[in-house]
Amino acid sequence: MNRYLPIRSVYAREVLDSRGNPTVETEVTVGEGVVGRDGYTGRAIVPSGASTGKFEALELRDKEARYQGLGVQKAVEHVNTELAEAVLGENVLKQGWLDKLLLQADGTENKEKLGANALLGVSLAAADAGAKAMRMPLFQYLGGVHARRMPVPMMNILNGGRHADNTVDFQEFMIMPTGACCFKEGLRMCAEVYQKLKEILKKNQLSTAVGDEGGFAPDIKGAREVLELMEKAVEQAGYQPGTDLCFAIDAAASELYEEQEKVYYFPGESSMTGHKIIRTASEMVDYYERLIQEFPLVSIEDGLWEEDWEGWSMMTKRLGDRVQLVGDDFFVTNEKRLAKGIEQKAGNAILVKVNQIGTLSEAMDAIERAQTSGYGAVISHRSGESEDTFIADLAVAVNAGQIKTGAPCRGERTAKYNRLLAIEDTLGELALYENPFQKNNS
Ligand code: PGA
Ligand code: ZN
Repeated sequence: MNRYLPIRSVYAREVLDSRGNPTVETEVTVGEGVVGRDGYTGRAIVPSGASTGKFEALELRDKEARYQGLGVQKAVEHVNTELAEAVLGENVLKQGWLDKLLLQADGTENKEKLGANALLGVSLAAADAGAKAMRMPLFQYLGGVHARRMPVPMMNILNGGRHADNTVDFQEFMIMPTGACCFKEGLRMCAEVYQKLKEILKKNQLSTAVGDEGGFAPDIKGAREVLELMEKAVEQAGYQPGTDLCFAIDAAASELYEEQEKVYYFPGESSMTGHKIIRTASEMVDYYERLIQEFPLVSIEDGLWEEDWEGWSMMTKRLGDRVQLVGDDFFVTNEKRLAKGIEQKAGNAILVKVNQIGTLSEAMDAIERAQTSGYGAVISHRSGESEDTFIADLAVAVNAGQIKTGAPCRGERTAKYNRLLAIEDTLGELALYENPFQKNNS
């Protein structure tokens, strides 16, 4: 493709995310002629995490009185000055080159000079502008003619950890409609189970208030009790656990780890049982092993903390042939960390959050590295989100086969599911939907 579509303007502003905190919205306008007449504007709103990994690219916050220190005026300013200067006049259809220019403008390893939130907005909005200018759906622009695999939702229906104020220590409990025939039916199954779970919680006088990602956040003792309730919800919705729907968890173990004592501390379970519950790395793996034996648990994210390479290798050796072991805080969408993990046989899948790394090209490099190394790739939202649906298109573009984007509740979560419904419609009969854990499916 030798078309040249110059970037005419780059503009960012401060907007709000789903937690009511500020974040960056960026617009990139392109066009051969006069802006306003035949220009195209791409847009992106940058997400934000709560249980952020230590090795993530830096999210620049103002640290001033406004918004309790969380303002992003500096990042916005960096977009409107240095980053705009770096890419103005450049061809928007050369995403890799644009991302290089953004990286050069920042010049640091973890984007601490200008902020990953500044870089990412430009990177994603440029891709969106390119798609619009080519009059193509974003997923096709990013992925080409072979982009057709609809992701199986890894749908969070019960929140704990940093995402809620309840006693559940693991951060996320999710359902995956692995037995569905297509995305649309899978989404329906999940939504039905979600409503059933709400009824069950109510009946048991448990809270049906929701956490940051839309999952319920009741006070429950431990993972086993949560999974039992989930099994009930699946059955009462008329489905078979293990066949129609499987379970996944995000332990977010870095949040539980006590570096001094080298143990995982479970504050919620401790308060519910009246004695202090701690687990070592190998006891954590024992715990997961029992859960795998008892429940159709197919995926465990961040089962151990982000710096325990040895522990991850041990966990992978013990569980890796039975479950997907996803590195979120552990890999931070970073190709280098992933390469080390592949070498050390640590984990077998990567969670992909575009803002952990800061440019679209780097995120796609990590995905490619995973896919060519037999690792899974799960495209993911953040706990702080917006109406932006970029990740829905990205999941289909790279044929990832799995997406984690919260409960079927809260507009910022349903926006992604609704976008995927539209993509499946667009693909029509070409759309594929398969259980990612059944290796021999065609
Ligand atoms: P975060 O949580 O966006 O708060 O990091 C999501 C996750 O841990 O997967
Ligand atoms: Zn996670």
